[in-house]
Amino acid sequence: MATETHTGLECPPAAWWKPAHKAEKVWVSIAFVWCLILFAMMPIWHWKGGQNPSGIRSRVEPTAFMERVQEFITQYQVDDDRGMPIVAPPPGSDIYLAAFSFQWMPILKLQKNVEYTLHLSSLDVNHGFSLYPININFQVVPGYDYGLRVTPNASGDFRIICNEFCGIGHHVMVGRVIVEDGPVTTPAGGAQ
Ligand code: CUA
Repeated sequence: MATETHTGLECPPAAWWKPAHKAEKVWVSIAFVWCLILFAMMPIWHWKGGQNPSGIRSRVEPTAFMERVQEFITQYQVDDDRGMPIVAPPPGSDIYLAAFSFQWMPILKLQKNVEYTLHLSSLDVNHGFSLYPININFQVVPGYDYGLRVTPNASGDFRIICNEFCGIGHHVMVGRVIVEDGPVTTPAGGAQ
């Protein structure tokens, strides 16, 4: 019988007491130092990173959030796209976006270079807000209202893709954000 084959039930030949190879020691040391660097980066990123959401967060009941979204739509709806309301809120206002299986509601029509407070929440399960083709990603969790201060800096017709698997219709969960060229800022005293 050949003894070279191992079934997994047999012990491999024991060699753990032999000294580790120099290269192995070097790599373990590098990995350990890298772990310490990444560990330190966690608090550093929190204070220094530009990726942190700028805004407020509070608890909200999904039904209460949906009521607020409906109110927002009733107030500022300007059009619709195959039944989905298009909402153009005034500059600087609080704007609302609800995620639910499998839609983003409503379609937001915003102005470039104007700050809004975007309230984002889910009505059912976790969804992922991903603004395409711009690399902005955000977890949308039910029960929480994320008030993000956002200033669109590019005009265009953008898509919101869901990047968190949320069920059978996950792949068709696409929303829309339209950004129009906002007020043109002219040099002080130089009205044109
Ligand atoms: Cu919502 Cu995937």
